[in-house]
Amino acid sequence: MRVNDITLASRIISEARRLVVFTGAGVSADSGVPTFRGAAADALWGKYDPRQLASPEGFAKDPKLVYDWYTWRRSQLAKVEPNAAHHTIAHWQKRGAVVITQNVDGLHERCAPPDAVVYRLHGTLSEDRCSSCDHRENVDLKNLPALRACPSCNDLMRPAVVWFGEALDPQVWRGAMAAAKSADVLLVVGTSGEVYPAAGLVEVAASTGAKVVIVNLDPGGLDSLAAVTIHGRAAEILPQIEAPD
Ligand code: OAD
Repeated sequence: MRVNDITLASRIISEARRLVVFTGAGVSADSGVPTFRGAAADALWGKYDPRQLASPEGFAKDPKLVYDWYTWRRSQLAKVEPNAAHHTIAHWQKRGAVVITQNVDGLHERCAPPDAVVYRLHGTLSEDRCSSCDHRENVDLKNLPALRACPSCNDLMRPAVVWFGEALDPQVWRGAMAAAKSADVLLVVGTSGEVYPAAGLVEVAASTGAKVVIVNLDPGGLDSLAAVTIHGRAAEILPQIEAPD
């Protein structure tokens, strides 16, 4: 594995025929969206308990507390914009790159070309869904709703995100898995690689022959799968990879 070789990363990505970009919270950190883990003082799981705020059990115990926490996260999203990393990825999407993201913040979608494929493994904060039935509603980030009952079945509406202990949407997972298997280059950006099954996509791509390039602030468990790893901020590094000096 080569470390901090931007020239090599740039060559691998410019020669890719089927580029897949796999992102985590670190890609949005430079927009001001807090990550979950890592050294940053505002990392969410350093301050809050994921079992309380990101599990079906936590929601059953105190739905208002959980819903209000997502309202706070949604209110943050109304104030942030995609950064240079999202824009560089959008540039690759225009050339056919597929994005698989663990993020629920919608920042890829805000700058992606209209026909781009984005697999959202962990759902989205831009929608609520019913806890019981199939009813879904869009959420306007500038006019946030309160905890409320489903108009179809009267159970509680909840954010359309995947919580710990819940399965991923099978259709989204199948699409992401197929993309990872067919990639000749997998660019991994801003993820600790600690959450499965999502992180397993990197192992799948590497084992089916893809070259793996990682851009992340801190070293992590996925580094051993990479042809090249670059430690730095996504918003600084991705534009350099796209247009090296
Ligand atoms: P994490 O918070 O676990 O990891 C973020 C990674 O981004 C860390 O390894 C940081 O070093 C790195 N990082 C921070 N700032 C960066 C920057 N400016 N540029 C590049 N890298 C940076 O986030 P995820 O791996 O996305 O799940 O977490 C996976 C899942 O865990 C999330 O989707 C969420 C969470 O619980 C659900 O909500 C289901």
